[in-house]
Amino acid sequence: MPAKGAQVGTTSRKTVPGTAAEDVIVVGGGVTGTAIAWRAAAAGRGVLLIDPGGDDPRAADMATMVAAGMLAPVSESVFGEQHLLTLNLHAAERFESFNQELEAAAGLSTGLRAEGTLAVAYDHGDLTALDRLTTFRRSLGLDAERLDARECRRLEPFLAPSTRGGVLTRGDHSVDNRRYLTALRVAAARAGVRIVAGRVTRVADGEVRVALAGQPDGARLTARHVIVATGQATRSLDGLPGPVRRAVRPVKGQILRLRHPAGIPPVLRHSVRAVVQGRDLYLVPRQDGELVVGATQEEREDRDVTAGAVHELLRDAVTVVPAVSELILAEASAGLRPGTSDNGPILGLAGQDGLIIATGHFRNGILLSAVTADAVTALLGGHPPDAAWAPFTPARFS
Ligand code: GLY
Repeated sequence: MPAKGAQVGTTSRKTVPGTAAEDVIVVGGGVTGTAIAWRAAAAGRGVLLIDPGGDDPRAADMATMVAAGMLAPVSESVFGEQHLLTLNLHAAERFESFNQELEAAAGLSTGLRAEGTLAVAYDHGDLTALDRLTTFRRSLGLDAERLDARECRRLEPFLAPSTRGGVLTRGDHSVDNRRYLTALRVAAARAGVRIVAGRVTRVADGEVRVALAGQPDGARLTARHVIVATGQATRSLDGLPGPVRRAVRPVKGQILRLRHPAGIPPVLRHSVRAVVQGRDLYLVPRQDGELVVGATQEEREDRDVTAGAVHELLRDAVTVVPAVSELILAEASAGLRPGTSDNGPILGLAGQDGLIIATGHFRNGILLSAVTADAVTALLGGHPPDAAWAPFTPARFS
């Protein structure tokens, strides 16, 4: 075991000047890792963030860049995931104040939208399924207001005339995932976080092995604390407990980004979710005129964008909001969500002093980022995280 304290291995001293001051190394520069790095640095720690894309997030294959940015604990809740719902509600409550502090620290807007989420249905079967889920959510005391077709169209005039009815969840908001990550990176840099491009190949107690861009493999960096926030790639990171690695699985999502041509008013104000002939769909409008349409959920690990998925997403989106056919298809992309064997995140000490895991956020990475940073801040200070995290320790897989 390496000696505790801020130290650097011989190779890394050459390749990463100044690392000797580091108290914390964060592996993974998506929203989870960057939020953790920012809060740790804001608390006065020396922090090094390592990500394959370095300080250019577009250069990395991270789930953050492909997300839709929904902050939707109620709309994303399903039967049988009570602990996750409790955690997601805790996360939604915290997100706004975290985001305010972030916008002030970065001097940037994250594009938070607070109009709420409207779930709509298109045939009798879809409406029955939506009603069943709404009854369940209300039985848990969650906010869900049933609307008839006319009320839905009053809120969103561009909804298809065939809309049968819907449910409004006012507390389910959204944020622009890419602006949010940019703000986190800027706030982190301003707080003193140093970001380096590198692919971490192995982690251990207080130590990482990293292939740094342009440098030979095998640099060894040490710090008092190592935090692993590597999303679905956690499954192939040497040095972590086997049961944790095996619990993580990639879940592919394909997603579209549309833009409004000049002169076309925004087709939506709320996030809209729909079940179209049994398929889940969401449409998330941005303040700058982007409309995100997603997403497939596939047990695959490639990042190919398929013609079939683009076709289905567009067909379902046009069924829900016919005016979508007037929009410009700006981007089609695919990412890998960090799923786990029980669909819950993994947060806590990895069974070794100094090594903390924060991964497996699956469909809720943006939403959970703020409370994940809070939880890791608590762990770094020797305190337990909020009780909502108790069911999600790495130890549950051993
Ligand atoms: N949270 C939305 C998704 O994972 O597609």
